[in-house]
Amino acid sequence: MAKLVRFGVSIDEKLLRKFDVLIRKEDYPNRSEAFRDLIREKLIKKEWNENKEVAGSITLVYDHHKRELLNYLVDVQHSFHHLILSTQHIHLDHNNCLEVVVVQGRPKEIERLVHKLRSVKGVKHSALTMTTIGKDMA
Ligand code: NI
Repeated sequence: MAKLVRFGVSIDEKLLRKFDVLIRKEDYPNRSEAFRDLIREKLIKKEWNENKEVAGSITLVYDHHKRELLNYLVDVQHSFHHLILSTQHIHLDHNNCLEVVVVQGRPKEIERLVHKLRSVKGVKHSALTMTTIGKDMA
C-alpha cells in the first residue's frame, strides 16, 4: 500500500460547513475519504480530457417494437466491437428495453460510439458514465 501523507488545508469556514453537510448526507465516514473521492473525480476527468485509456458504461433506453432500431444498434456495436467488453439487455416492460454497454478504450472513440447510439430515432434516453481503468488510481 502507498504511504499515507497528512497535510493541512485552509478553507473558508462557510464552505467547509457546506461540505460537511454534503458528505454527511452521502454517508462518508470522514472528510478524508470525501476529499480523496473529489481528487479521483478530477483525475478521471483529466484522463478523459487527455484521451488516455479509460472505461465506462453507456446506458440506453429504447422502444423495443422498432425493429430497424434494434438492428441498427447491433450494427453500430459490431463496428465498435474493439471497445465493447459486454452488453447487457434488460426487458423493462412490454415496450421498453434498457441496454448497458460496458466499454474500455480511448475517450474520443467511446464518445463517437455514444453519439452514434444516442442520435438514433427511438432511443428515449442515453447516459454515459465515465470512469477509469483504475491502473493509476490509488
Ligand atoms: Ni428487450
